[in-house]
Amino acid sequence: TNNLTVLGLESSCDDTAAAVVRRTADGAADILSSVVFGQADLHADFGGVVPEIAARAHASKLDVAVKQALTEADLTLNAIDAIAVTAGPGLIGGVMSGVMCAKGLAAGASKPLIGVNHLAGHALTPRLTDQLNFPYLVLLVSGGHCQLLIARSATEFMRLGGTIDDAPGEAFDKVAKLIGVSQPGGPNIERAAKTGDATRFQLPRPLLDRPGCDMSFSGLKTAALRARDALIAAQGGLQPQDQCDLSAAFQSAVADVLVEKTDRAITAYLDVGPRSPAIAVAGGVAANMQIRHALENRATDRGLRFVAPPLALCTDNAAMIAWAGIERYQLGLVDDLTLAARPRWPL
Ligand code: KG4
Ligand code: ZN
Repeated sequence: TNNLTVLGLESSCDDTAAAVVRRTADGAADILSSVVFGQADLHADFGGVVPEIAARAHASKLDVAVKQALTEADLTLNAIDAIAVTAGPGLIGGVMSGVMCAKGLAAGASKPLIGVNHLAGHALTPRLTDQLNFPYLVLLVSGGHCQLLIARSATEFMRLGGTIDDAPGEAFDKVAKLIGVSQPGGPNIERAAKTGDATRFQLPRPLLDRPGCDMSFSGLKTAALRARDALIAAQGGLQPQDQCDLSAAFQSAVADVLVEKTDRAITAYLDVGPRSPAIAVAGGVAANMQIRHALENRATDRGLRFVAPPLALCTDNAAMIAWAGIERYQLGLVDDLTLAARPRWPL
């Protein structure tokens, strides 16, 4: 029950991140530093993350991120108790860069190495920020993921459902591209939607007619495309108000789907008999205020505490990896230098 200080590394998508997190003897968590280098500008011309470019950028930026994280935490590598790294799932080149960097640090400084599942990192963040007790419900919604999970322990996650096609953030980004709203699609669609009329275009609510917690967002994208094409045929193009109305319609459809599927997950979760029922959101889409508020209202209606970590801890970061590392370390789950990078790694 001493202090535990872990350096975390994250490089599974398009952010190179390093962070130092300390768990104090009284159980509180302190983020001593959290450095995130985005790569958006490197991929901007390509309309998506280019794995090859991402991997090279991670390889050259990881060292810098680690140095900066240690400097900001005012610690040397020697003062670190363990090194945690995202070992998957993600773009394999990036994950390998991170795992190799972590192995080098662990071997060089004789520190324990801990491989962390990126999704577990997201799902455990509410314990870092709000000391949430197990079991709690998590809605993980980002550019790459969409899952409803019951977090039973730091190593047990029960998947209740998820997307059968696109992740919601991916749909935000694709719809933005379709209707001429600039990237990143999520925040820009949210901004456009503020002055939009959500009722002007009727978009579907996919899979709400089917039982269970699975979701689908690619049909929404197709419906937005059809609405756009009809506007182009009728008036030659899209006016700013059309973009705002389409944005509002799309955002409301995503919010409705997420809320109704989450509602079903709440029913399954309450059946488990949690003593202090709570739901946490994680992932970049949790930054969306309409979605966040809609989820919060439903959760509160159903008697659940609602936890939304600060935005910087919702999107990809290394503090969540360091924290997940702390949780694993406390369970005695340490890896050795044979730790493999895994492109696929279900929770
Ligand atoms: O968690 P994240 O940073 O990266 C991963 O995908 O793992 O999430 C990024 C995604 C992007 O697709 C972005 O468009 C979406 O989250 N996003 C949003 C908002 N801010 C970011 N989606 C809707 N509304 C937002 N305000
Ligand atoms: Zn992520």
